[in-house]
Amino acid sequence: MHVLVVGANGQIGRRFIHAMQHSQHTVRAMVRDADQSARLEAIGANEVVVADLEGDCRSALAGCDAVVFTAGSGAHTPPEKTEDIDRNGAISIIDQAVSAGVRRFLMVSAIKADTPEKGPDKMLHYFRAKGAADNHLRNSGLEYTIVRPGKLTNEDGTGHVDIAKSLNRDGEIPRADVAEVLVMTLDSPNTVGRHFELLSGETPIDKALLGI
Ligand SMILES: NC(=O)c1ccc[n+]([C@@H]2O[C@H](COP(=O)([O-])OP(=O)(O)OC[C@H]3O[C@@H](n4cnc5c(N)ncnc54)[C@H](OP(=O)(O)O)[C@@H]3O)[C@@H](O)[C@H]2O)c1
Repeated sequence: MHVLVVGANGQIGRRFIHAMQHSQHTVRAMVRDADQSARLEAIGANEVVVADLEGDCRSALAGCDAVVFTAGSGAHTPPEKTEDIDRNGAISIIDQAVSAGVRRFLMVSAIKADTPEKGPDKMLHYFRAKGAADNHLRNSGLEYTIVRPGKLTNEDGTGHVDIAKSLNRDGEIPRADVAEVLVMTLDSPNTVGRHFELLSGETPIDKALLGI
């Protein structure tokens, strides 16, 4: 597959590109700043395109079989930016992916996206935005998988996770393990049309994905 990574210069995005070097797929990295190209090519991106989620992404999507969405407005932006990127930007690229003939779409969501009221008040708008994007994806007709990690860390990956539709607990997961889960999810047809929560755990990633 030819895979477009949205949020390619982000912390998960870069780890995903690096991990994809061992896959059979090719990676097109979508960035907002052309100066990031050399860095992403150095870690394995086959191609880099410049596009913004708040604009036209058609040229970035052209010819791609799959999208991995791991963009985000970040923790230090005002709520309006969360709406612009995490909700509206995600919805816009889902619609553009459908028009472009993309088949597969992996969404990096968040563990409380379906239950925003269970999180802290200051995160309510963020979880609601992620939930709205997830719902749009579910109804898009794309072969989707929604991956919902807990709090992200920069610890080394362990290759061991806990995955379930609902884990009924809070927790953390290294970004490196999220990236590996995304790589393996691309090649796991049983994850199509599913969402799952993702935390650090005891089960090897490939085995954990088989249980979805
Ligand atoms: N932080 C957590 O604990 C947590 C928990 C669960 C889920 N998540 C989700 O995990 C995902 C990624 O996390 P991360 O740590 O990798 O985030 P990150 O390092 O902040 O990366 C986000 C990326 O999104 C890109 N981006 C922002 N606005 C954009 C736009 N308008 N058009 C195109 N790209 C845009 C940024 O581009 P630039 O490089 O140009 O800034 C950046 O590369 C997000 O979807 C987030 O919601 C986070």
